[in-house]
Amino acid sequence: MDGAPDASSARVAELEAYHRDHVLGCVRCPLSEGRTQVVAGSGSPEARIMFVGEAPGYHEDRTGVPFVGQAGKLLDGLLEGIGLRRDDVFVANVLKCRPPGNRDPQPAEIRACEEHLFRQVGIIRPALICTLGNFATKLLSGRPDGISKVHGCELPLEIGGQPTLLYPLFHPAAALYTRAMLATLEEDFARIPALVARAGEVAGAAPTPVVPEPAAMPAAPPPAARDADPAEQLGLF
Ligand code: URA
Repeated sequence: MDGAPDASSARVAELEAYHRDHVLGCVRCPLSEGRTQVVAGSGSPEARIMFVGEAPGYHEDRTGVPFVGQAGKLLDGLLEGIGLRRDDVFVANVLKCRPPGNRDPQPAEIRACEEHLFRQVGIIRPALICTLGNFATKLLSGRPDGISKVHGCELPLEIGGQPTLLYPLFHPAAALYTRAMLATLEEDFARIPALVARAGEVAGAAPTPVVPEPAAMPAAPPPAARDADPAEQLGLF
């Protein structure tokens, strides 16, 4: 040992410093006024797999940890099904603060917050990024295609100059309401170990540069449609 800091501890320190200096006290948008605390992200900064959800809910806002409510329990079960624990991955959200009443993220909020997510990706440099639901998928893919169309379809990308493989998945909250969706989510999850094993190779193939830019947001469904399905209210499809 020569006492020089290794690359992995440098990554841990860099993420910690970024969160401390730029995320935990962030006042870039009005969501900062209503939050209990910022939910920066949790797990291993050295993880090869990153999961990106939508925004903190009530329990996440209270605890400061992403995915600790019902959807989080389902995420834990899905991870366990492929032999992983939370500490093996890094989990973050598009928004770091809870929108009032758990409403959908607004375009201005996504724009204000997206640099935090892109910086997290740039520091962690995951081989595989699993986006959970529409908001994370559209932001990180830079494409308007909805999750119903693109779930389970891996996409080589370059994010912040770093090749990675994007893997869109249904949001676990959607599977709380729809059993067929749970089966689809389990099937898509089952491919994660093989994908991460060959992620470097695939990610190096033909990356599409993603330049952070104002998010293209889906039009809100009409109120009647939103009332029809609780998962739709969460903007999950
Ligand atoms: N909890 C989170 O942290 N993110 C979500 O998208 C949903 C629940």
